[in-house]
Amino acid sequence: MSGGVVVLRTDDARIARRAAAAAAAAGLETLIGAAVMLPAPALLAGLVAELELEGALEAIRTARAAAPDCTIVAFLSLPEPELWRQAEAAGADVVTTRGRVDRALADGLADRLSGRRRARRLRLAPLAEFAGRLGHVGRVDQSPVGAIALYHLGGRLHAVSDACPHAGASLCEGDLDGPVITCPRHGSQFQVTDGARLRGPADLDLRVFPVVIEAGVAFVELPA
Ligand code: FES
Repeated sequence: MSGGVVVLRTDDARIARRAAAAAAAAGLETLIGAAVMLPAPALLAGLVAELELEGALEAIRTARAAAPDCTIVAFLSLPEPELWRQAEAAGADVVTTRGRVDRALADGLADRLSGRRRARRLRLAPLAEFAGRLGHVGRVDQSPVGAIALYHLGGRLHAVSDACPHAGASLCEGDLDGPVITCPRHGSQFQVTDGARLRGPADLDLRVFPVVIEAGVAFVELPA
């Protein structure tokens, strides 16, 4: 047996063929099928999961629990934000569309082999949903780095921690004046565009996270 197995859980022959080529280029074998079983954890190098197939989320959870370092790429045909988020929460490294599966798998396997860890992405929403709205435009309630507040200013989206670095108050409940947010609890002020602390009692800057736009959809990048 080679250095491991990539499970291609799909009934799309074209995607399976291209993903298998990406796995082979990384020296890995493949198991292909819409309901194929996962191999023993020690052999599991990766999983590609078609989210519209029954049991896809469960397969992602099982793979992530059994082989925490394996590469998991989930994909779907239609932009279904809830399913996208569920796949991220289940443990997928990347959630993408059909056309990008082989590229995402190749990148993920290369990272795995080199030991590099890439920033994780959380899908926010299509950019059009923020158009015409300014200031505080949303909140990600749960993420690996806690709650995230979203601001739309000057034509750009900004993602910052929604926990004040002084004592953890939710900044979403504070007043926003231009790019300056005032903490509702003790009055610390921060610039939401770069996180800079402008006034205490907080003595740290606010954490900021990059926002990237891909195919008209906004994502926030979390530290690896
Ligand atoms: S919790 Fe924000 S200033 Fe104290």
